[in-house]
Parts: sequence; structure tokens; C-alpha cells
Amino acid sequence: MKVENIQAIRGMNDYLPAETIVWQKIESILQQVLASYGYSEIRLPILEVTPLFKRAIGKVTDVVEKEMYSFEDRNGQSLTLRPEGTAGCVRAGIENGLFYNQQQRLWYSGAMFRHERPQKGRYRQFYQLGVEAFGLSDSSIDAELILLSARCWKALGIMDHIELELNSIGSLVARTAYRQALIKFLETYQDKLDKDCRRRMYTNTLRVLDTKDPYIQQLLDNAPKLSEYLDKESKQHFTDLCTLLDQTKIKYRINPRLVRGLDYYNRTVFEWVTKSLGSQGTVCAGGRYDTLVERLGGRETPAVGFAIGLERLALLFKKVQPCFTASIIDLYFAVLGENTLSIAIQLSETLRNVMPHLKLMTDYRGDKLAKQFTRANKYGARFFLILSKDKLATKQILLKNLSTGEQETLVLVNVVSRLMALLT
Ligand code: HAM
Repeated sequence: MKVENIQAIRGMNDYLPAETIVWQKIESILQQVLASYGYSEIRLPILEVTPLFKRAIGKVTDVVEKEMYSFEDRNGQSLTLRPEGTAGCVRAGIENGLFYNQQQRLWYSGAMFRHERPQKGRYRQFYQLGVEAFGLSDSSIDAELILLSARCWKALGIMDHIELELNSIGSLVARTAYRQALIKFLETYQDKLDKDCRRRMYTNTLRVLDTKDPYIQQLLDNAPKLSEYLDKESKQHFTDLCTLLDQTKIKYRINPRLVRGLDYYNRTVFEWVTKSLGSQGTVCAGGRYDTLVERLGGRETPAVGFAIGLERLALLFKKVQPCFTASIIDLYFAVLGENTLSIAIQLSETLRNVMPHLKLMTDYRGDKLAKQFTRANKYGARFFLILSKDKLATKQILLKNLSTGEQETLVLVNVVSRLMALLT
């Protein structure tokens, strides 16, 4: 009887070794940059109670209305697979008393879940690396986060392929006044709007500015501008941020239509976008959310952060650096013929004892030499060690340098010191 294959859920990917090697490279660079600014890792649950996201992200957002994976657990409690990390990070900070008269610079990384229509760069399970700074209201921390992200792009070699878009959406009061003005404007063009914009007009008005429809975009050119409704403090905050970015030579484009899809933002919002990935070009996005901690039950705590979409970052990195290869191993140990295996295992363990960072793969199958040679090259090994039955008889071993093609015969007792000299 033929058993049907079980397949992964649509939009949820496996990441195979050729991919994970790229991710490890990216993640190690990001973590190095985060450490250089004094950010610490926080690890958070993947499941949270559903009201957390409804309260934090906003009930009338696409994420909460259409995209959350929510279900009742065995006790009848509604739980949700996190669609993003900020809400959980704030919940954890309040619960663990991290915000009492303290500044916190935190980062987290992990899987997020949104029931969106899968396409290149958009998945139902995707990975984010999020960075959040709490307890600082000055625009210098907004600038720090932007500088930190720019440093990540530089270290990854993708700076020329990514642009910063920036806006200020002001305070809630300013936005409410603007919303009324925008509704009034949109009402005069109601018959010209598409279904999506008409739906959003009264529920999530500012998101109409996000429309991808070129005709409606053109209509919106004459709409009232959010910048004209900004409160004085928000205007000053934004001017200060722009000055800091100018002084540190960070290029940006002020996009007056940038509003973001989650409800918790105020003042600064920003996105790093690329033209190289098609329609899903936002690689990193974030902004300030000064009222969220209070809204979730904590004390008033200013906050700002962003999250990088790691799939999109990996796609861009591979596009810009198509030749990137990282070797899985340094040394491949080929074993040929009877009685060689146990010596090879012992020798391999000794090599790992003396060189803890050595990446060594030992062959156990006794495949033909050519096959083992191909495997060594596939894994990017620099050296190829061959223990054959004949050589073992004379207590010798063969070492091949795969970069130069040079070969040397070593006495078995000398092999450890010779490899230490070559590899450390
Ligand atoms: P977001 O804009 O919803 O913000 O997501 C941040 C980034 O995650 C996006 O720019 C994109 O790169 C990636 N992303 C989002 N959805 C998907 C998807 N379905 N597939 C692949 N990648 C995706 C947030 O999540 C906020 N929590 C960011 C933040 C942190 N704001 C302040 N602190």
C-alpha cells in the first residue's frame, strides 16, 4: 500500500543546510553589532494569550482581524501564535519588573506567525530579529536604533541596496484630528476608492495612505498632510532626529505616507526598503510606541524599536553576495580498508580535544576515494586526510591540501602536531 507523503503547511518553510549556513553568518553579524551597542537578548514564549495582541496591535488591524493563528487550548483559554515580538516583549518587561526606573536595551529572535497569502518574501511562519529600547524618550535613541541597523547593513555588505524611509505620525491627539480631516477628504472621492480603501476609511483611516493603487495614490496627493497636523513636541522630536541622522551621515527619505500597519506607534516610524526583492521589499521596520507599556498595564515608559524580517534579509544578502560560501568543515578524514576505522575515530577525537574549534568530518562508510574527495570539496574542506590499509601497515597517513593540491605523507604520531601547525 502506498502511503501518502505528509507535507509542510503552506507558507511554513524548511531551512536546509545550504540556507542555514547563510542565516548563521547573518545572525552572527547582527548579534555582534547588537553587542557593540550594549543590547541584551531576551527569549520569549511563542504562544501568548490572545487579548495581549488585540490590545497591543489593535483590534482593527489586518494582523488581528485576518492573520492571527488563534485557538482554544484544552482549558478553553484563547491563545495565539505570536504574529510579532513587541507585544510579548512588553508583557515580559512588565511582568518581570524590567521597566521600574530603568532603561532596557533588548533584542529577541524567533518565529512569528501570520496567516497571509504566501509569496516570495511573505510567509505564514517567518523569522524576525527584533530590537527594543525602553525608558528613553529623547530622539537620540531613535537615532541609535537607525545607526545600529545601518551598521548591520554595512557589515553585511548590502548598504547600497537598501534605503531608509522615515516619517513622524505624532501624538494620538494629533492623529485623531488628522483622521477627521482625512475622512472628510476621502468622503468626497468615495466612489473612486477601491473596496479595501472604502473598508478602511472609517475603521483604520490612516492605512488608506498605504494603498498600492496608483490611481488612488494620485488622488491622495491632494489629501491633507499628516505633517500639518503634528503636535509641537512631535515636530521638534522629528527635527532633532533628522538633525542627528544628518550629522551621522545617514541618508533617508521622508515619506509623508508612511504610517505602518500596527496601532501602537506614535512619533517616529521608519522602514528600510529595497527595490531588489519585488513587492515584499520592506526588510526592516519599526518606530516609537510610547503608550504601549501603559496600555498593557505597566507604568508610563517611552519605547522605540524595530524588527528585521530575516527571510527578506537572507534573500537580499544572497542576491548581493551570490558567491558567498561558508565551509561546513576544515578537515575531511577519509578512511579506506579494514581496521582503519577505529584508529580514525580515536585520532579524530584526539584532534577535537586539542583543537576545539576544528570542524572535522570523519567518513564511516568506506566509500571509494573519489566519492569521499567530492564530498570533502562539497563541504568546503581545506584539508583531506586519508588513512588507508596500506599506509596504516607502515604507520603512515596521507595529508592533502585541497587549496594548493600539495600532498604529504606523515608518520602517524606526527599528524596531530602537523595539523595543529596548519590549522591554528
Ligand atoms: P512589521 O512591520 O509587522 O513590524 O514586521 C517587521 C518586518 O517583519 C517586516 O518589515 C518584514 O521584513 C517582516 N515580515 C512581516 N511579515 C512577514 C511575513 N509574513 N513574511 C516574511 N516577513 C515578514 C513588527 O512586527 C513590529 N513588531 C516591529 C517593531 C519592533 N516595532 C517596534 N519594535
